[in-house]
Amino acid sequence: MIILGIETSCDETGVAIVKDGTSLLAQSLASSMSTHAVYGGVIPEIAARSHIESILPIVDECMQMFSRENNIFDDPWDHIDGIAVTHGAGLSGSLLVGVLTARTIALIRQKPLYAINHVEAHVYANFLVSPQPEFPLLSLIVSGGHSQLVLFRNHFDYTLLGQTKDDAIGEAFDKVAKITGLPYPGGPNIAKAAIQGNPYAYELPKAKVDGAYNFSFSGLKTAVLRTAQTTVGGDFRTPSTDLPTLLNQQQKYDIAASFQRIAIETVVDKTLKAYGEFTPKSVVIAGGVAANLELRSQLAKALPIAVNYAPPDLCTDNGAMVATLGCYKAMLNSPIADPLSLAINPNLKM
Ligand code: KG4
Ligand code: ZN
Repeated sequence: MIILGIETSCDETGVAIVKDGTSLLAQSLASSMSTHAVYGGVIPEIAARSHIESILPIVDECMQMFSRENNIFDDPWDHIDGIAVTHGAGLSGSLLVGVLTARTIALIRQKPLYAINHVEAHVYANFLVSPQPEFPLLSLIVSGGHSQLVLFRNHFDYTLLGQTKDDAIGEAFDKVAKITGLPYPGGPNIAKAAIQGNPYAYELPKAKVDGAYNFSFSGLKTAVLRTAQTTVGGDFRTPSTDLPTLLNQQQKYDIAASFQRIAIETVVDKTLKAYGEFTPKSVVIAGGVAANLELRSQLAKALPIAVNYAPPDLCTDNGAMVATLGCYKAMLNSPIADPLSLAINPNLKM
């Protein structure tokens, strides 16, 4: 089963081809991240326009790589069994570009079309890595838009154990980066700065929320802001935009390290609790924040089993995770989407 996957939910235009949900045959990616960096966050109109410019060249590049790397000398489209596309959750304008492209390809090439949930797809990046995760599978999904603990009993049979009540963890990384004057995307830059900081320099709170497996990160973000304001000798009226120039380098490193420790401990505590209650065979981490090395090392120390995770480029948004989930949908005879009418769903839930 060979599926072509298309991902355009945010600022990455990703296309990939995956076989049997286990092997990545080709992939291509364009990102508008550097354009957004100037504004300190993703600008939806710029993201959508970039997808329009990139999508066809990226599909072509991926198909050429597919032919080249797999010694295909006839029409490579004849070797594709179906098209999978992220139809939610995400930015409307961005999702539209991917969905309309996939619908058009499915119609012209007469291929079945599979509608993919972006957050679920993040989990499936782990199926491309050996050893594959096993069910029951506990997944910690941590990205710029989501913080969730989901228990999969089997493919497509899952329960949402808990989720964030306000900001996603990746969003908190991005906001703390702004406070400390680090460029977008904040996550990797906070992680880099944290290496030179003292993770115990500042005392920051761990949020208490209703529900054993729910998260909250907005209080932590505000606590970081207050800490930074106090550190520079100001109060709550000190504008956050002044902080990057008022904080010295070591204070920035220490804030990054202290924030990262608490944010990561928060998700590790809940993952450990869920592991104790549900004794899954595998634990996977997924989403952009799964690239964080502090998360990987804290989980490795806390859990009695090895955690499955994908290489960093498969943790952040990409086409391979979409194609992988598409393979399982096709192999397990999931419903096919109508190429004439598949709609986007910007608020699609797990
Ligand atoms: O999954 P993703 O690419 O997009 C969404 O679906 O949201 O995740 C992006 C998020 C951003 O908030 C980014 O700052 C964060 O993942 N991120 C990281 C790291 N790499 C990316 N956060 C912490 N540590 C990292 N190394
Ligand atoms: Zn994502």
